[in-house]
Amino acid sequence: MNPYTNRAMITHRKFFFNRKSEIRKVFSRIGSEIPQSVSIVGMKKTGKSSLLFHIFSREIAQKYIKNINDYIFAFVDLQERKSMNVEQFFDLVQREIRAQMPGEIAKHVPEAENTYDGFHQMMETLDSMKKKIVIFLDEFEVVVMNENFGPQFYSFLRSQASSFNVAYVISSREELFTFYKRKEIEESNFWNIFTSSWVGLFDRESSLELIRTLSSEEGYPLGEYSDFILRLAGDHPFYLQVACCAVFDFLACHEGISEKDFEQIENEFKTESWNHFNYLLDRLIERERKIVYDLAMGKKVEYPNEIQILENKGILRKEKDGYSLFSETFSEFVREEKSKGSIVVDKELPSLSPPSPPPPLSPHEFSQVFSSKSREKILRYLAENEAKVKDLVDLLGITRPAVETHLRMLLGFDLIKMRPILSPRIRREYSISKKGRQVLEVFEKMGKKMEPHEDPDFLEVRVGPALTRDEGKHIARISKSTKGKMGIESGSLVILESKDGKSVQCEAKTLRGEKGDKVLLDGETMLLLDIRSNDTIILKKTS
Ligand SMILES: Nc1ncnc2c1ncn2[C@@H]1O[C@H](COP(=O)(O)OP(=O)(O)OP(=O)(O)O)[C@@H](O)[C@H]1O
Ligand SMILES: [Mg+2]
Repeated sequence: MNPYTNRAMITHRKFFFNRKSEIRKVFSRIGSEIPQSVSIVGMKKTGKSSLLFHIFSREIAQKYIKNINDYIFAFVDLQERKSMNVEQFFDLVQREIRAQMPGEIAKHVPEAENTYDGFHQMMETLDSMKKKIVIFLDEFEVVVMNENFGPQFYSFLRSQASSFNVAYVISSREELFTFYKRKEIEESNFWNIFTSSWVGLFDRESSLELIRTLSSEEGYPLGEYSDFILRLAGDHPFYLQVACCAVFDFLACHEGISEKDFEQIENEFKTESWNHFNYLLDRLIERERKIVYDLAMGKKVEYPNEIQILENKGILRKEKDGYSLFSETFSEFVREEKSKGSIVVDKELPSLSPPSPPPPLSPHEFSQVFSSKSREKILRYLAENEAKVKDLVDLLGITRPAVETHLRMLLGFDLIKMRPILSPRIRREYSISKKGRQVLEVFEKMGKKMEPHEDPDFLEVRVGPALTRDEGKHIARISKSTKGKMGIESGSLVILESKDGKSVQCEAKTLRGEKGDKVLLDGETMLLLDIRSNDTIILKKTS
């Protein structure tokens, strides 16, 4: 049987190839102590859904996440839901979460209404059972482009992620943050909770593996035709499947392939791919199209920012001496389109003001990395030395698992490198990467500009409760970083001031069984300040 007939999401592990670094990156986020959200971006058919579904599989997840039983994963395909409303969204997601709950958990989670409150209650109940929820939302642009989903929806999703152990792994064809400039979404700050990751071309080794393994297992090895297949498809997973499919079908009915037969197979490939190529070209902006055309004509290209974007999109690949389009047939297609006059790129584009390299990390990623002093120290240390975990434990005076968690996150962001040393026994040595050095440099510059006061005298904080179990306690949560910034400790006296100038003095305490310090506000204080949950207040140091 031809193993290359799949044109939609790969759901069986046997047919899934490559994507190791993407998988590692996603698990480093959702597997962190407080699961973090990820946005997977890729052009049409680069394998977003397949990747999401692969990660969703428990069999895979348990390799990357230690305490997998603490997690509930839910996978929702939004593709066919173009006109749904918020209620239907909650219905879908809640049903999926419920379907994934182990029986003994489901017994204790009441059926929820398909409303904001209903969803909140479900998350709260699962949170109280110490469950971490990861919701996979495939083709999230369907929601973004749907007018039924307004600002409240995005703020709500964000609030669930900040109140509970809830994270989202979403996929879309465009970078949601930059592409869909919807004011209400931007205002909700929803995007700030995501790190984004592109899925583009395969690496060459994985392409060859795809070509060789599946075909050999079925008795018609394609290895000797790999040059031909790669010429048609490049390292694009979808086109590789289309090309392998055509060659496999041919071999299954004929003895070998002659020159003339290659032509026939190529035509078959083109028939299936031309429409998709058209779509790819259509989605590019003018400057990107100019680069694509220049490459098809064998010219050298400039515009580093666009080149980076096209590489992310899987349209071109880096070669030893420059860039080329992802496949020769795609080049041919571009040249043909140009000769038909359907690509207008003759107009000279204005030259770019000095091209700036892409920032090493997004602002959100940046603050994630440097929200911990320990990570900053590790990076600084590794900038000067290679180190083993033990060296870092000694340096920081924290536990080995804590150091390992920091290292995993830094590895996930490619800021450090790990080198296994196999003798005399297995050890790992860590060092800083090129990107790590860049990020550290930016941080040093920013640090000088942005934080003139290490220890500010006041800060704005938000009043809880975020959780029902806090009700009656009325807590102004102070995060570790706020605490650090202001130099507050348990037992410190602080002044709380409402926006309209009322103030009280109280004591910062660590609540038993809870992480982080909080300032307790009893009901009377709340009355005095005339504040309620979610209000912002000012926290001042007593002199
Ligand atoms: N990791 C992979 N291993 C093997 N084949 C893959 C892989 N990823 C993608 N493919 C091939 O590409 C096809 C499209 O994959 P998939 O549907 O996951 O892409 P997509 O990016 O979600 O597409 P769309 O933009 O249409 O939603 C698959 O049917 C398969 O043939
Ligand atoms: Mg898809």
